[in-house]
Parts: sequence; C-alpha cells; structure tokens
Amino acid sequence: MKKWNVATVRAAKGREKLGCCTAYDSCFARLADEAGVPIILVGDSMGNNVLGYETTLPVNMSDTLAAVGAVSRAARDSMVVGDMPFGSYQCGDDEAMRNAVAIIKAGADAVKLEGGKSVSGLIRRMTAAGIPVLAHVGMTPQSVNEYGGFKKQGKTREAAEKVLADAKAVEEAGAFAVTLECIPSELAAEITAALRIVTVGIGAGPVCDAQWLVMHDLLGLNERTPSFVKKYADLAPLVRAAFSSYVNEVRKGEFP
Ligand code: KIV
Repeated sequence: MKKWNVATVRAAKGREKLGCCTAYDSCFARLADEAGVPIILVGDSMGNNVLGYETTLPVNMSDTLAAVGAVSRAARDSMVVGDMPFGSYQCGDDEAMRNAVAIIKAGADAVKLEGGKSVSGLIRRMTAAGIPVLAHVGMTPQSVNEYGGFKKQGKTREAAEKVLADAKAVEEAGAFAVTLECIPSELAAEITAALRIVTVGIGAGPVCDAQWLVMHDLLGLNERTPSFVKKYADLAPLVRAAFSSYVNEVRKGEFP
C-alpha cells in the first residue's frame, strides 16, 4: 500500500473515488488503515461521538491533540487530517498558526478548518508555512448557533452562489481538498466540476470526488443517524449483547 498524501489525494481527482471516514483512537484508526481508508479525519465530531456533548463546540485543543496522536500512531498508509476545534482559529491568525503547528507536531499530515472566504487568508498563510489544509464549506457545524440548528445550506440560488464562491476562495487560497457538508446534490456536483481540488462530500450526494462518513455512523455504533448515512455494520446490538453476556456470566459464576 502507498502512504496517502497531498499529492496522491490531488491525483485521485477524476480517477478514483475516495471513501474516507473519521476515527478518534488508535484501535479504530488501525482497523480503518488496514482496510485501506485513504484519509482518516480526527474530526471535532469526537464531541458528539466520543465525549458526550450535543455539539462540536466544546471540543478543545487538548482533546484534539490527544486524539490526533492516538490516530497517527496507528495509521501507516492513511493520511491523517486533524480538525481544528472551535476557538482554535477564531481568535487571531497567530494563535491559529500555533494551533495548526501543534496538530501537525502531534502527528497529523494536514489540518481541516471550517469556513470559506472568511478563512482564505489564514489558509494562504498555513499552506505557505507548509501546513496542508483541507477546507470545509456548506453546513459548517461550528456555526450551529448562527444557523439555529444543523440545517442544510445552499438551498436558494443566492445561498448556492455563496457556497460556490467559498469553495473557489479556499481552492484559490491553496487548500488541497474541500469538505462539502449538507448541501443539495446538484450544487455539490456543480462545485466538483468547477474545482481542480478534491471535493469530499457528506450529505452532499454522490457527485463528489470523495465521501466522508463518521465512523460511529458507518459502523452502526450510533443507532440514530442522519438520513444520508449508510450503515456498513450494525455493531451497537452486538456490543450491547457482548457486555450483557459478560455481566451475566460473571454473575452466574460461569466466567472466569
Ligand atoms: O468532524 C467531522 O466529523 C467532520 C465531518 C465533515 C466528517 O467534520
């Protein structure tokens, strides 16, 4: 297997569709890596899926650095992208640079941050400093309070034009790929055709260069999932049954 990197991801556009996912610890990162997942995102979705929060907003740099370290120690061939948590790049570009550097030093191959035109200057500075950036436009979950909920974006022509302009701005700034989250499929297709960089869709239909799924959704560890999710396993009942058998066997003196 080859080690995925910025060059190989860029080269995949138009040639190979990439099924990518999140992971937050060494155990699942090793399994995803062995299965050939090209890009593992240490997403701030660890807030909802691992840390028990309602949103991604409380995730901080310590959470991120610990998870990026764990995932990158396990991933040999997958590219590891560290998501910049809310607050780590909103309080000034110097602080954002220091936090991006810390994520790379913890083992990530690239960082991801949310926003379009508004973060294009920061993306330009990061890429000039040798920090590859995977951008994120459309529905950006760190703006949940501004949206008043996790709502599909780009539904009107005017809103669609803004998402398209954001995607072009992050490409122009040097991002090597861009996440398109929860936007209409036709808009994702239009953006994918308009950009030279890889688009990674989630809830954005099939016409993207790559897809994300949150690991806990893909594996069926989350029983309630968004409608666009496909579960490739149904682990929650299996895990619950295993815990339950263990407790019962110990109670009955059957184990050990
Ligand atoms: O944190 C996350 O899981 C994400 C998704 C777009 C995959 O940002």
